[in-house]
Amino acid sequence: LFVNASESSVKKIPHTMFGISFEEINHAGAGGLWAELVSNRGFEAGGQNTPSNIDPWSIIGDESLLIVSTESSSCFDRNKVALRMEVMCDISGENICPKGGVGVYNPGFWGMNIEQGKAYKVTFYVRSSQPIEISVSFIGSNGRQTLATSNIIAADVTNWTKKEVVLEAQGTDQNSRLQLTTTRKNIIWLDQVSAMPLSTHKGHGFRGDLFNMLADLKPGFIRFPGGSFVEGDWLTNAFRWKETVGSWEERPGHFGDVWQYWTDDGLGFFEYLQLAEDLGAVPVWVFNNGFSHNDKVDTSTLLPFVQDTLNAIEFARGDPTTKWGSLRASMGHEEPFDLRYVAVGNQDCGNNYRGNYLKYYSAIKKAYPDINIISNCDGSSIPLDHPADLYDFHVYTNANSMFSMAHNFDHTSRNGPKAFVSEYAVTGNDAGRGSLLKALGEAGFLIGLERNSDVVVMASNAPLFVNANDWRFNPDAIVFDSSKVYGTPTYWMQQMFKESNGAILLNSKLQATSSTSLITSAISWKNLDNNKSYLRIKIVNFGSDKVALKIIVDGLDKNLIEAEGSTMTILSSTNVMDENTFNEPKKVAPVTNPLGNASNNMNVVLPPYSLTSIDLLK
Ligand code: AHR
Repeated sequence: LFVNASESSVKKIPHTMFGISFEEINHAGAGGLWAELVSNRGFEAGGQNTPSNIDPWSIIGDESLLIVSTESSSCFDRNKVALRMEVMCDISGENICPKGGVGVYNPGFWGMNIEQGKAYKVTFYVRSSQPIEISVSFIGSNGRQTLATSNIIAADVTNWTKKEVVLEAQGTDQNSRLQLTTTRKNIIWLDQVSAMPLSTHKGHGFRGDLFNMLADLKPGFIRFPGGSFVEGDWLTNAFRWKETVGSWEERPGHFGDVWQYWTDDGLGFFEYLQLAEDLGAVPVWVFNNGFSHNDKVDTSTLLPFVQDTLNAIEFARGDPTTKWGSLRASMGHEEPFDLRYVAVGNQDCGNNYRGNYLKYYSAIKKAYPDINIISNCDGSSIPLDHPADLYDFHVYTNANSMFSMAHNFDHTSRNGPKAFVSEYAVTGNDAGRGSLLKALGEAGFLIGLERNSDVVVMASNAPLFVNANDWRFNPDAIVFDSSKVYGTPTYWMQQMFKESNGAILLNSKLQATSSTSLITSAISWKNLDNNKSYLRIKIVNFGSDKVALKIIVDGLDKNLIEAEGSTMTILSSTNVMDENTFNEPKKVAPVTNPLGNASNNMNVVLPPYSLTSIDLLK
C-alpha cells in the first residue's frame, strides 16, 4: 500500500460526512432515547375516540371495587380524552378497599428502570368533586416491592388541577411500574400522567446512556424523524410537526402506522432540534411532502402543506418576534436553531414526486435561500430532472454487494447536486442481528464514500436504534432495553470513521497485485484532545485469509513518523457472524494497541475479516 501523505493534492472531507439517521422506529424515541417512563400518558392511544385505547395501562381492583372508563372531558383541547375512575370501595364500611388500594398502573415500555437514589418527577392532572387521596408509587416487577411512594392529598380539585411530586427511589428494579391508587370512595378523573427521571441529559429529556452512545459517534449531522415514519402508511398517520410542539400536555400524540405503535410525541420537532444542538450535529429535517405509502396530496391542492413546512422552518430559525419563532422562544430556545438542511419526503421518487417537490423547492428557496434541499431521486447515475442541492441515496443489500458498492460513486458526475447516502445497511442472512460481516461490508462501502467525498457529502446507517422488546426492523446499530445498551459491530465500525469528518483525504493506492478483498483509505486528522496530528490508514480485509501488508508512506514534510503514540485498532472476531449481546456487549468491538514498529515503511498483518485503523503520529 502506497500512501502519499503530502497534503498538496488532496481533498477535504466535509464536516458533515458521517452522521446519524434517527427514525422513530423500533421504539427508538418513545421508550428509548426519550426518557419519559409512562407509555400513553394521555390515555388516548388510538386517537381521540372514546372509549379509547388505554393500553398499556392496567387496572388494579376488580369491578366490584372500581370501574374505569374514558371520557372526552380533559382540560386539554387537543387531547380531550381523560380517564374516569369510579371507586366503589372505601377505607371503612361494607366495601373496604384492599390494603394497597385500587387504581391504575402503567408498566412503561416493557418495564420502567427505577434506580436506587435517583429522583423521578411524576406529574399528573386530576379532577374530582370531592377531596382526593392518591398514592403515587413505583412498584417493583413482582408487583409488591415499593421502590418509592408519596401520598397526594388535596381538598379541592373540582377544577382540573396539576399535581407534581418528586419520588426518590429506595431500591432498583429494571422492570418497575408507576401506580396511582386510592382507598377512598370517589370519582376521580386523571389525565396526562408523566414520570421523568430528573437525570436526563442537560435536563433536556434524553436518556443519558443512549445519548452518550450517539455523542460518542461525534455525528456530523442528524437526520430525523425518519424514514417511513415521516410518510405514514396513510397521510392521516404521518408525522405532523405542529402537533408535536408546545407544552407536552397539549400534544395529541399519534399512531405511527408504518411501525405500528403510538407515540405521545414528547420527542417532538423542538426536541429533535435540541438533540441536534446538544450533539453538535447539523439538523436534517425530513418533512412529509404530501405523500404516504398509500395516499397523497395532489399538487394542485398542496399549498397549505407548503405553508405548513415554511411555518416549521420559521419555528426552527425565525426571530422570536415571528409567530412560530415566538413559540420556539416560549419553549426555552430564544436563539434560532441551525436548520440548513431539509429533505422533501422519504423514498418518494416517482409517482409524480416532481410536481409536489417543485412547489416545496421554490417556496423554500424563496424564503430561505441558504437552506439545502434534498431530493428523494437518485442522481448518482443519471441527472435529476429537477433542481436540488443534494439527493438521497438508500441501499439495503447483502454484505458482498455492499462491499463492492464502494465503487458506486467512482463515475458519478462531479457537477450538479451532491449525494446524501441517508440510509445504508447490510440486511438479510449476512446481517444476523448485527454481525461482524455486516459491519465489514458497510465499512468497505464507507471507505468508498470517503474516497468519493467530493461528491458524496453525507452518509448515515439505518436504523440507528432498536428497543430489544420491539424488533420491528432488523438489523440496527444500537440495541437497548429499559436499563442496558450495547453497540452492534456496525456501531463500532462507525466509531472508526468519526475522525474523518473535516479531515483531509490523502492519496493512497494498493498495489495491483493486492487482493480484491482489500480496500483502503488514508486521511490526515488532528486530535483536538491532545492537539496532535495523525495519518490514519483504514483497511478492510473482506477475505477469509490474513493478509501481510507492506505500507509505504511518502510525502511527509519531515518524512517522520513517531512510533511512540502510534496505534493500531482492529475490529474483528473469531467468527465473521459473531454479534454482540446484552451478555457480551463488546464481543465484537475495536481493540487498540501501540504500534511499536510504526514507520514510513512498515509491515502489518491484517486478520481475516477485519477492519484495521492505523494511526501514525506525525
Ligand atoms: O431504515 C428503515 C426503513 O427503511 C426506513 O424507514 C425507510 O426509509 C427504509 O425503507
